[in-house]
Amino acid sequence: MSTERTLVLIKPDGVARGLTGNILARIEAKGYVLVELKKVNATTEQLAAHYAEHEGKPFYQPLVDFMSSGPIVAAIFEGQRVIEGFRSLAGATEPTTAAPGTIRGDLGRDWGEKVQKNLVHGSDSAESAEREIGIWFA
Ligand code: RTP
Ligand code: MG
Repeated sequence: MSTERTLVLIKPDGVARGLTGNILARIEAKGYVLVELKKVNATTEQLAAHYAEHEGKPFYQPLVDFMSSGPIVAAIFEGQRVIEGFRSLAGATEPTTAAPGTIRGDLGRDWGEKVQKNLVHGSDSAESAEREIGIWFA
């Protein structure tokens, strides 16, 4: 099976809480290879493209506001089945119920806001990964 790549974002809550190193270390310790890394302030255009599938949902504007609230760290990781493997490391969307041992389960919690601040994003398919890598590493 050929190696694949995924797009990981450490969201503004993860960066602001000083968890960038912890999160990257977990992904590296799993054995995936860091290919690209940068700290950026997301533009409106990048977020509109990245979250196009969620447009119209109740959490869309809070999500865009949250993702604009501070710097994020964007990374490309590589490895066999890394897309699935990183989603497993990240845990479920809601930090409250994300399993202990996962990034969201260990490091996240519910803050009572209109959007779940859940530390990380990971591509959910090969098609998404290719599209998202093009948005953040054009
Ligand atoms: P991601 O795309 O960030 O990897 O997360 P995901 O697949 O687990 O979740 P998704 O359904 O794609 O939602 C994207 C992000 O929107 C926020 N969200 N908040 N009801 C809520 O409060 C809610 N629902 C979604 C989260 O930040 C989620 O990761
Ligand atoms: Mg998603």
